[in-house]
Amino acid sequence: MKRDLLGLKGVSAAEIEAILKGAARMKYNLLHQNKKAPHLQGKSVVTLFYENSTRTRLSFEMAGKYLGAAVGNISASSSSVQKGETLIDTVKTIDAMAADVIVIRHPMGGAPALAAKHAKAAIVNAGDGMNEHPTQALLDMFTIQEKKGHIDGLKVAILGDIAHSRVARSNIYGLKTMGAQVSVGGPVTLMPPDIEKLGVSVFNSVQEAMIDADVIIGLRLQLERQKSGLFPSMREYSRFFGVDDRRLRFAKPDALVLHPGPVNRGVEYTSSVIDGEQSCINEQVTNGVAVRMAVLNILTGRNLQDADLN
Ligand code: NCD
Repeated sequence: MKRDLLGLKGVSAAEIEAILKGAARMKYNLLHQNKKAPHLQGKSVVTLFYENSTRTRLSFEMAGKYLGAAVGNISASSSSVQKGETLIDTVKTIDAMAADVIVIRHPMGGAPALAAKHAKAAIVNAGDGMNEHPTQALLDMFTIQEKKGHIDGLKVAILGDIAHSRVARSNIYGLKTMGAQVSVGGPVTLMPPDIEKLGVSVFNSVQEAMIDADVIIGLRLQLERQKSGLFPSMREYSRFFGVDDRRLRFAKPDALVLHPGPVNRGVEYTSSVIDGEQSCINEQVTNGVAVRMAVLNILTGRNLQDADLN
């Protein structure tokens, strides 16, 4: 049976560990050897993006190419989607070209799951609306594990626009499964109702959420998804909810600073925090390629013993 990666909800700790272990091997190849490896030789990967993206799309493309796959990219703005083709028809068209993996980003939550029902290819969710973004959370967890040696027992604070963030949701599912303690902090207008049901501690200030944190994950204000009027102005948002050097001291002195990107400099973090010693933001991008290499490898079935994602 084909396997998809649609989200981290319901994915077990053993499966996450298998992906992180695979990513560590891939990172070694990426940094220390000839980058071209044969794992996906004879396979094909297509990225199908209905939303803007820099790092996620390129990261999947590089991951596929480093492993020897044929890679094609479609962005909805320049495809037949503009001519009225449905998601299912587009996916079937890509299927008909013998794609092995289709990586989908879509503004509607659930779109990759719908595609998965109709596609022969394995589907990877690269971000669906406000639902999930599993490979982002996996690369965040990989970065944490690499720097701290473990995830279990750590305190992770997720800050800012939780309500509109698929990154927050995937991280909450994954981090909880891996035994971390998760707190969320941000304006009450950007906090989803019932978020505490996911087993997180909820605060209406970033400082409280950050107390003694081992890791902080700042989130971009997802203006494109917000109805107007959720906060007075960017300036006020950064004053009350942005993290600067002074606020960072609420976290542990060696706390890691993570951000999925793209960063709004001076809004969620000041430049001194983005470029500071605790920041792992650039390394997250490298780790993103390694994690996506591992995911593509596992889904194309060359390493069946490594993980079963369904
Ligand atoms: C995130 C996304 O698109 O969900 N970015 C990313 O994938 N690196 C977060 C964001 O857009 O702020």
